Amino acid sequence: MAFPIKTYLPKSLLGRSLMIIVIPLILLQLVSGIIFFESHWDKVSLRLARGVAGDIASVVNLLRIKTSAKNQLTIIEIAKDNMQLDVKIREGSILKKDIVVASDFMGSMLVRAMHEYVRKPFQIDTRKTSRHVSVDIQLANAVLHILIPRKRLFSSTVFVFVAWMVGISLILFGVATIFMRNQVKPIQRLAIAADDFGKGRDVSNFKPEGATEVRRAAIAFLAMRERILRQISQRTEMLAGVSHDLRTPLTRMRLQLEMLGNYDTTELKSDIAEMEHMLDGYLAFARGEGSEPPVPTNVTLLLQGVVQQARRKGRDIKLVSKRTCEVPLRPSAFKRCLTNILENAMNFGKNITVQSCIRGDGVEIIIDDDGPGIPEEKREEVFKPFYRIDHSRNPDTGGVGLGLSIARDVVRGSGGDIFLERSSQGGLRVRISLPF
Ligand SMILES: Nc1ncnc2c1ncn2[C@@H]1O[C@H](COP(=O)(O)OP(=O)(O)OP(=O)(O)O)[C@@H](O)[C@H]1O
Ligand SMILES: [Mg+2]
Repeated sequence: MAFPIKTYLPKSLLGRSLMIIVIPLILLQLVSGIIFFESHWDKVSLRLARGVAGDIASVVNLLRIKTSAKNQLTIIEIAKDNMQLDVKIREGSILKKDIVVASDFMGSMLVRAMHEYVRKPFQIDTRKTSRHVSVDIQLANAVLHILIPRKRLFSSTVFVFVAWMVGISLILFGVATIFMRNQVKPIQRLAIAADDFGKGRDVSNFKPEGATEVRRAAIAFLAMRERILRQISQRTEMLAGVSHDLRTPLTRMRLQLEMLGNYDTTELKSDIAEMEHMLDGYLAFARGEGSEPPVPTNVTLLLQGVVQQARRKGRDIKLVSKRTCEVPLRPSAFKRCLTNILENAMNFGKNITVQSCIRGDGVEIIIDDDGPGIPEEKREEVFKPFYRIDHSRNPDTGGVGLGLSIARDVVRGSGGDIFLERSSQGGLRVRISLPF
């Protein structure tokens, strides 16, 4: 079963490494934040509220003693100067409703402290003004209206704490991003080099760098590249050598046959011609991955050249090329690949169409013919070297069954691929896709 959370996880290495840093960071902040609120802020706020409630209780108790108006004023003044409480007495008034307007945390702490210390009906309004909290207390025949500055009830350390926490995390996150990006770069370079090598492009300026593990992977990649190149060149040299060495005795045989004037040597001559044709095929196959470097090649111009050459054999080939563009290719290898495919099309069909267009992040070349086509179950087989479908249906072209192998070798060597399909013209469609 697919794990749905995976779809939300970042795909890139940088994203994932940052996530590994960010999630513990957020968790750490949450935990420390919760501990701070639970143990510290709660207690501090209650203590502040109790301090204020204690002061209010003192004022209330002092005012309850029957004193002169002058003494009352002195008490109010002391409350203002020493306790920062703004006290007013409203004689004869009664609290309208016994409601408490204290929805926030600070208000609820004050309510708790007032119940503990004052023990008289009261109302608290924390929303009336932005700088004060107002408290109304019912006395025997008056209402005491007190304005408390918020500063006395509020501890600002919590905001300083949160600001520090968020600020430091952002700085740490920024530093981590910069460092991680530098760590990821060598891996990206290695991926690009491997991709380029797969497409047959030059990777000679790639150098191992970065962390030890990445460096080791890069060194292993370079060693692998060396081995592959060595194997290719050994294969090429061997095939080319054998083909070349066989040519000399064959040529000698042909010359000797020429001298046997009195005998009928047509069959022998045609056998030798076929063998020479085969050797040409092997040589072409061997050279397929030769030393030719890939260069940016205009696909339309290349197609025009190949089609024109094929037209000289007296065939009418339609060429449709929508937009010109350049793709890194080995031009002569690629020409051979196209010629092989066109030769097949000409051998099997009458009407041939060649098209090229830009599709996705590459170029697509399509060659259609109206011949018998290739049945679906044989479409993989025909790419094998020396494989030819049922000789009876093939026109006698003296082929050896290497044409499509070479074609696929060349296309894959450029990072592309080749597909056989059913053509809308009734025969075979060869579709080549090449990346930019
Ligand atoms: N356009 C086509 N229509 C029908 N069959 C095809 C077509 N192209 C290739 N084939 C079949 O695929 C087989 C393999 O083709 P391939 O080009 O590799 O070899 P070949 O043409 O027989 O020989 P070579 O190209 O080496 O001279 C052919 O023998 C043929 O049967
Ligand atoms: Mg062929």
